[in-house]
Amino acid sequence: MEKRGGFATKIGILMATVGSAVGLGNIWRFPYETGRNGGAAFLLVYLLSIFIIGFPVVMAEFVIGRKAKANPVGAFKKLAPNTKWHWVGYMGVLAGLLILGYYSVVAGWTMEYIFKALSLELENKSAADYKSMFETFTSNPILPIIWTVLVMIISHLIVKKGIKGGIEKASKIMMPILFLLMLILAVHSILLPGSMKGIEFFFNPDFSKLTAESVLTALGHAFFSLSLGMGCLITYASYFKSDIDLPKTAAQVTIIDTLVSVTAGVIIFPAVFAFNMQPEAGPGLVYMVLPNVFQQMSGSFIWSTMFYILLFLAALTSLISLHEVVTAYIHERYSISRSNSSRIVTALVLFLGVFCSLSFGLMKNATLFSMNFFEWLEYLTASVLLPLGGMLISIFVAWYLDKKIVFDELSNDGKIKVKGFKIYIFILRYVAPLCIFAVFVTSLVK
Ligand code: PFF
Repeated sequence: MEKRGGFATKIGILMATVGSAVGLGNIWRFPYETGRNGGAAFLLVYLLSIFIIGFPVVMAEFVIGRKAKANPVGAFKKLAPNTKWHWVGYMGVLAGLLILGYYSVVAGWTMEYIFKALSLELENKSAADYKSMFETFTSNPILPIIWTVLVMIISHLIVKKGIKGGIEKASKIMMPILFLLMLILAVHSILLPGSMKGIEFFFNPDFSKLTAESVLTALGHAFFSLSLGMGCLITYASYFKSDIDLPKTAAQVTIIDTLVSVTAGVIIFPAVFAFNMQPEAGPGLVYMVLPNVFQQMSGSFIWSTMFYILLFLAALTSLISLHEVVTAYIHERYSISRSNSSRIVTALVLFLGVFCSLSFGLMKNATLFSMNFFEWLEYLTASVLLPLGGMLISIFVAWYLDKKIVFDELSNDGKIKVKGFKIYIFILRYVAPLCIFAVFVTSLVK
């Protein structure tokens, strides 16, 4: 078997993990779920989920990954031999595959928008034009699928080269530029006439709009956004060196990821209201709203092109992390070469991707319980598998794993000080699993 790779530098580790966390989840999914679920109240539940549940579980995945140095299934087999715990790993690999199915499609949309921006198609149009432009494109039975294929080929080429060469280099440069560009966009959006209604929608909570289901969506999205609950962070941490400060890295990733999401909200909602659009527009929201903002800026074509390129790259760094989880599992479990493992994953994803893409056109009305294929994959992963995985991971670390192992990993064998270890274990033991369980049960009963 080939030697396991590893990340070269500390900043590389941080950037690759942030690269996995920051992606379409922050800029595409967060605004549209917030818009659909009533705005500020949703934001508040999301933030609570991130800091009370998400952050502790990030550390839990780090502990498992670095201790076991294996893919999610192998990690549980190593730390809990002769038990059923490795099923949590299988669940994660399955979740990864299903997420890839729709993530690759939306990443493909971003590529189309790079070319729309470059060919000046996004210039001088009305809000209604942008809406119909998006709908015409996504309902096309062929074009979005071609982009999906291209996205997966790029992802495959990076993943097959192994961890160091591809993922690390790509993340280091782009992330800071993307964030800077987002700040500039946010300022432009706030300065639009009529933007205040959007700020109010995003920051002034109306709790009457909150349902049990939207609480589950917020919790699930917190997991999705942090790449949590499916072993992605277990896989990444398995490549971490022994001197990495796990709590500090977890805190940095959590904070950066949250900042990006909130900034995305500050870009989108003022613009939604300034242009009289609907915050409930669904998965197309960002693609319909943003061109309106670019249009207001001088040199709009440069801004929009740059933005869609960076968004694509942010999506790509998340996509490869998902691709990596499933590939690492197949590679280590079946001793198939990395490249062939990655090929198998690519083929499976494309199969799912075709149905996801057609969910916006030909198969729009092929629904089960009023959800189409795309919506089912989103629901099953973000609202079921990830929270469930997160719950089991916190139970595993807090109840099953020897506390000495947990402490040694968090403190690098006592070399760094760990504050609040008891509180941490308390949260992982009771708070996180019970909250997730309660949210689950209430929303299922409803
Ligand atoms: N966190 C990514 C995003 O917000 O776009 C999506 C994601 C990546 C989810 C990796 C899960 C994962 F394992």
